[in-house]
Amino acid sequence: MPDASTANLAINAERLWSNIMTTAAFGGTLKGGVRRLTLSEEDRRVRDWLVARAQASGYEVGIDRIGNIYIQRPGRDPGRAAVAMGSHLDTQPTGGKFDGILGVLAGLEVLETLDEAGIATEAPLCLVNWTNEEGARFAPGELGSEVYVGHVALEAALACRDAEGVTVGEALSAIGYAGTEVPGARRFAAMVELHIEQGPLLEAENLTIGVVTAAKGQQWYNGMVSGRESHAGTTPMTLRRDALMAFAELALAAERIARAHAPDGVGTIGMAEVSPGSRNTVPGEVRFSLEFRHPDPDHFGRMRAEMRAEAERIAAARDVTVTLDPIWSMEPLSFSPDVAATIAQAAAARGLPYREMTSGAGHDACAVASAVPTAMIFVPCKDGISHNEAESATLKDCAAGANVLLHSVLALAGV
Ligand code: GLV
Ligand code: MN
Ligand code: MN
Ligand code: MN
Repeated sequence: MPDASTANLAINAERLWSNIMTTAAFGGTLKGGVRRLTLSEEDRRVRDWLVARAQASGYEVGIDRIGNIYIQRPGRDPGRAAVAMGSHLDTQPTGGKFDGILGVLAGLEVLETLDEAGIATEAPLCLVNWTNEEGARFAPGELGSEVYVGHVALEAALACRDAEGVTVGEALSAIGYAGTEVPGARRFAAMVELHIEQGPLLEAENLTIGVVTAAKGQQWYNGMVSGRESHAGTTPMTLRRDALMAFAELALAAERIARAHAPDGVGTIGMAEVSPGSRNTVPGEVRFSLEFRHPDPDHFGRMRAEMRAEAERIAAARDVTVTLDPIWSMEPLSFSPDVAATIAQAAAARGLPYREMTSGAGHDACAVASAVPTAMIFVPCKDGISHNEAESATLKDCAAGANVLLHSVLALAGV
C-alpha cells in the first residue's frame, strides 16, 4: 500500500528538464545532439557535474575500478541492501540528449525530491552511472554493468582498446575515474532503470509508460574478409579474390537472415573498413562489425547458425577467408516479474496509460538482471528515433517516467 504521506509526491519536472538541457551541453553538437563518447573529456565533465551535485546534497559517492559511479542516500535500516536506479552518461558518436542520461537525471531527481519532502526510506537508495553502456568507443557495451555482475572480468574490461589503441584503464585514469571500489561489492535489493523507448510503439499507441518485462538477445561479432590485393586494371574479373565483393554478399546475407526472422529479428552492420582503400587496387581486406538480435532463443540460435553457414558458403565460392569473431553476447532475457509489477502499479496509481513491452535495445539493466531483481520503465521518444542527434522526448513524458521511477523505488525500498 502506498503510504498516505507519499501518495501524491511528485518530482520537480522543470528541474529535471533543466538538468537534461544543462547536461546536453557536455558534448553538445551543432545539430542539437550529443557526442559524449565514454571516458572522453566530455564524459569527465558530465561525471564531475553529477558528482558535484551529489556531494552538495551530502550523498556518499563511490567509484569502482571500472569507473561506475554510485551515489547513495542512506535508509532508515543501514543493514538493508540498497534499491538501485540509474543508467549511463555516455552517448553514441552522434547521439541525443536522452539515451542514458534521462535514467541518471531522473534518479537524481528522485533523491532530491525525497530530501525536500523530508522522506526517509527503509532501505538505502543508490543512483548508479554505469561506465560505457554504448560500446561505441570501446566494444562491447554495457561494460560497467557486465563487470559489476562478473560476466566480463575486470582485467579484460580494463584492457579493451579504442580505435587509437587507448585502453579503458588508461582512459579511466586520464579522466580521474579509476576508482578503488571492487565492482560487485555493493549489493542491491532491486534495480529500476528509466530509459526512452528508442522505438515507435508507445508513441504510436498513445501510451506514456512502457513496463519492460523482457529484452532481446544480442550477438556481436568482429568480422573480417581476407582476399587478395591486386591491380584494378590488369586483374581479370575471373581471377579476382575481391574482399569487398565477398563482404557485399555477406552483408546482404545478414539482411536476408534478419528479415527471415522478422518482425523481431534484426541484423546490423554498423561499421566496415576497406583496405587498402585505393580506387585502383582490388580490395584485399574488409573489417566489419555485425550484430543480430532476437527475443526468442530458438530464432536467435537459428540466426547465428544461418550466418555461419552463409559465411562458409561465400568464403568457398569466392576463394576468400571469412572470420566471424563473437566478441559479446547476451541471451534473450526476462526481467523480474515482481519489479515489473511494482512499476505497473506505480503507473496505474498515477493514472498513466501503460503497456508491457520487450526492449529491442541493450541496457545496463539487462546485465544487472542476472544478479539483481530488475525491470525497466520506458517513455516515448519522437518518431521512435534514437542513436540520432534528432532524438527527442517531451518534458511531460520524461516527468511521468521519473514519477513512476520515484514511486517504484519507494515501494521497493519501503517508506
Ligand atoms: C546500445 O545502446 C544498444 O542498445 O546496442
Ligand atoms: Mn541507453
Ligand atoms: Mn544507446
Ligand atoms: Mn543501449
